[in-house]
Amino acid sequence: MMRNIFPDKLVERIAAKTGTPVYIYSADRITANLEAYRKAFAPAGPLICYAMKANSNCAIAGLLARSGAGADVVSGGELYRALRAGFRPDRIIFSGVGKTAEEMAFALRSGIRFLNVESLEELELLERTAARMRLKAPVSVRVNPDVDPHTHKFITTGKIGSKFGVSFAEAGRLYSFAAASGYLEPVGLHFHLGSQIYSARPYALAVSAAVRFIRGLEKKGIRLKYLDIGGGWGVKEGEDMPSPSALARIAVPAAKSVGLELILEPGRSMVAAAGALAVKTLYRKKSGPKRYVITDGAMNDLIRPALYGAEHPVRPLVKRPGPPVRLNIAGPVCESSDLLASGVRLPLPSRGDILLILSAGAYGFAMSSQYNSRPRAAEVLVTGRRSWRLIRERETYRDLITKEKR
Ligand SMILES: Cc1ncc(COP(=O)(O)O)c(C=O)c1O
Repeated sequence: MMRNIFPDKLVERIAAKTGTPVYIYSADRITANLEAYRKAFAPAGPLICYAMKANSNCAIAGLLARSGAGADVVSGGELYRALRAGFRPDRIIFSGVGKTAEEMAFALRSGIRFLNVESLEELELLERTAARMRLKAPVSVRVNPDVDPHTHKFITTGKIGSKFGVSFAEAGRLYSFAAASGYLEPVGLHFHLGSQIYSARPYALAVSAAVRFIRGLEKKGIRLKYLDIGGGWGVKEGEDMPSPSALARIAVPAAKSVGLELILEPGRSMVAAAGALAVKTLYRKKSGPKRYVITDGAMNDLIRPALYGAEHPVRPLVKRPGPPVRLNIAGPVCESSDLLASGVRLPLPSRGDILLILSAGAYGFAMSSQYNSRPRAAEVLVTGRRSWRLIRERETYRDLITKEKR
């Protein structure tokens, strides 16, 4: 079960000051999660590169940067954010299947640790970019180990047939190409199996295939420095991050056996349980047998229930009397899929009651949009049990149109 990290009184104060919907994050929980990774992987002392995509707010990224983490970025925009947030360039790695020449040049100019490449054409472009800049690009190849992580099909990435990575056979060709180039330096091997993985078994399969492959590379005279096992460690909605020690028991000895430095890219597990979305009850209504609670938060604020069928627990701030009834928590967006929670059992809230949608710290605000011309929510960072600060202002109507021409 999840600890209650947001005292009711504090949430009330925040909502009264900032309005709703508002994302609330716990700084203490985020740094505790980083510590849990450090502790589990202590014998390897890995570089923990926070996957910025999970929640890229500068305050959260900055907190992790100050705590000594690195960053995994997947776009020029994320690299920009990571640098602005204070991550040391040599602790940043750049993943992603479609980097442009401009993004590559930005990464090389910034002096990041390495780029994960995912195709021969990408590697060729990286070589040309590095040649133009007269430098040697540190590169790692993302292999697709063809392992089924048994997760949602939208977040499975390590099976052959997905757009991510290359087969080991193709990776062999990429490493030979890089090793023969004066502008590329092969330094790492990378895989990322998917998200919401609750067992270490898929990692064990991928790691043992990677180790075999790395030994083969050594025989060809290609010696790497890093084994990057990606992210994906799961955390169930309504629960705290499970200890990653099972993962460490597999990855640490494997990296040691080939003498490589271990790199991790956790995203969701670092921030999911550390965040909640506070929304306000606007109306209650019935549609046939179904009861709806319409709130001021919607799928544009939190798309995970609509996109993946994610089931976020809902905690009402005011405990209303009356028996729990089955409720669908829906937003004002004009889509039937605009649900924050389906069929949750709660006493019927009153109009104006605040509901906390829990486990919303990862892929919540980061995936939010202005769909239906709804300004994005505010974000708040809590430290301890009382102190908090606004880390992103609520967008205004003006923000909706600032880039548009009449
Ligand atoms: C390359 C890469 N690394 C790390 C992550 C983070 O995964 P998670 O948030 O599940 O830990 C992702 C997620 O999509 C990814 O694509």
